[in-house]
Amino acid sequence: MTHKGKGKDKESEVEQLREEVATLKGVINDLNKSYYASNFSQDLIVQGKAGFPKHGIPASHAKTIIRDYHNMDSNEYLNTSSYVNVVFEPEEMEVAQLGMSINIADQTVYPVTFKIHDHVVNMMAHLWNCPSNEVFESTGVHAGAGTVGSTEACLLAGLALKFRWRRWFMKKHGLSKAEVVNEPANIVLSSMYQAAWEKLFKYMDIEPRLVKPSYKTMTLDVAEAEKHIDEHTIGVVCILGNHYSGHYDPVHEVNDMIERVNKEKGLQVGIHVDAASGGFIAPFQEEMKDVPWDFRLPNVLSISTSGHKFGESVCGTGWVVWREKKDLSEHVAISVSYLGGNADSYTLNFSRPASGIMVQFYKILRLGMEGYRSKVDNQMNTSRLIREGLENMTFKGKKRFIILDQGDEGCLPVVAAMLNPELNLPYDDIDLQHAISDEHWYVSGYRMQYHCPSTENLVSLFNDITSDQTMFRIVVKSNLTMEMGQSLVGVIGRSLDWLDQHLDSEHSTPLPDRPSFKRRKTYLGNMEPSKESTLPTGMRLAPLVRAFMGLNVRRKELDHGHQAC
Ligand SMILES: Cc1ncc(COP(=O)(O)O)c(C=O)c1O
Repeated sequence: MTHKGKGKDKESEVEQLREEVATLKGVINDLNKSYYASNFSQDLIVQGKAGFPKHGIPASHAKTIIRDYHNMDSNEYLNTSSYVNVVFEPEEMEVAQLGMSINIADQTVYPVTFKIHDHVVNMMAHLWNCPSNEVFESTGVHAGAGTVGSTEACLLAGLALKFRWRRWFMKKHGLSKAEVVNEPANIVLSSMYQAAWEKLFKYMDIEPRLVKPSYKTMTLDVAEAEKHIDEHTIGVVCILGNHYSGHYDPVHEVNDMIERVNKEKGLQVGIHVDAASGGFIAPFQEEMKDVPWDFRLPNVLSISTSGHKFGESVCGTGWVVWREKKDLSEHVAISVSYLGGNADSYTLNFSRPASGIMVQFYKILRLGMEGYRSKVDNQMNTSRLIREGLENMTFKGKKRFIILDQGDEGCLPVVAAMLNPELNLPYDDIDLQHAISDEHWYVSGYRMQYHCPSTENLVSLFNDITSDQTMFRIVVKSNLTMEMGQSLVGVIGRSLDWLDQHLDSEHSTPLPDRPSFKRRKTYLGNMEPSKESTLPTGMRLAPLVRAFMGLNVRRKELDHGHQAC
């Protein structure tokens, strides 16, 4: 290289350094600015398309970005379509934070924190009247586990039933281990099951034997369930209560039926109670005191619940309790020793934060039996207010709605209804859901149908109504006060008025001139409307917003009610 060449290299190096200094000056300058005055707020991180970021950013900026995303979403406090708790006190936020750095799977490293897990398992077992047994006497802990939610709890309970049945079947027919794995297993439950069970059918290769209820009762028909039981049945699932309408399956009647069938046919069928929502409601309802649904019934082998629903814990909390370890939870226990000690692990996955368990413990300590009881009373009262509001709505002298939920007692705080089919309205309950969302409230509207797990066809949920009939559901969570319930009834009334004014029976009314619609129309411009809706373009706003946000799948899931949780 010549001397001249070297000089040029130096010059370009200096130039490059100058540029870098200028950039750094800009960055430092930007760092001192408020986020919205800085260049950071101009970056497009949309859907991670820019790839993995090269440099880090200040903590406050990272938080602002995430908070902005959150602000663009629906308001969780007005989301009555989900059962998941949204109420947290500042103290429990701190407790949740504490749990974030504890991997509860390391129970031999954090044995004291793991005691919180065991305390809660015992409290749940006590709440559900689990009898004492040898293992409890010797270890002081009931057979149970903290899970990520009801889904994991149902999967564990289903697996325990499957292995229990296998052991019994092997013995009965003198089969070897290799032979018994070829024997098909089935489980009997209502077609109103939640998607959690679909995972059990698919992942664990268990044939679902579904019993379709009437839409007028929405509970498991015990005589029909009996017809499905045979020697390959691992168990019957009772739902307390179903997520569509909040009805409780009649567990005590199923218990009596099973008692008889087991005797008559020499079977070993037991019950799992999927109390995802009811596990934290039924024990606090006066009218349920003399209606046993839990371990008071001898054939109830396991019960699961979502701590993050009416248990008031943080999302990602669930519980399963088995009547005993022997021939039940032992089938799903994994002995863990490589963390420096010996312990049983009952979960499907391993590492997880201790937050859910800690917040659950906090909530149980904070509320106690009395607190949960008065919370449930309040929820039932708000449900009644909303239900009565719907019942009082009329159209051309006829009732607007057919109420589908059970009412005030012996069920979940849920209001379920459908627009009166006699009115022959040009819109359905899903359209009503979208009209309601215009005022920021979110309710679940869906068709009374599900994907049949064996044929994959969409079929009716019930034995006496067609699969295209729609309904909607309002979950009255603990944050829904009377004041808010009243407001929601007002929104529903206004939404109906608006639908009536803007839709005629041929769906040919011109596009609506509602101010909010005009604003959104400008924003959404030329987006394609969803083909699913029966509404004119203007009313298809919510799916469009979701499509824009890449969330269109959610609309479909909610229409398919099994997944709405
Ligand atoms: C009856 C029932 N089982 C299971 C589930 C799944 O619960 P999770 O979301 O806690 O896994 C739900 C959710 O709504 C449910 O209602």
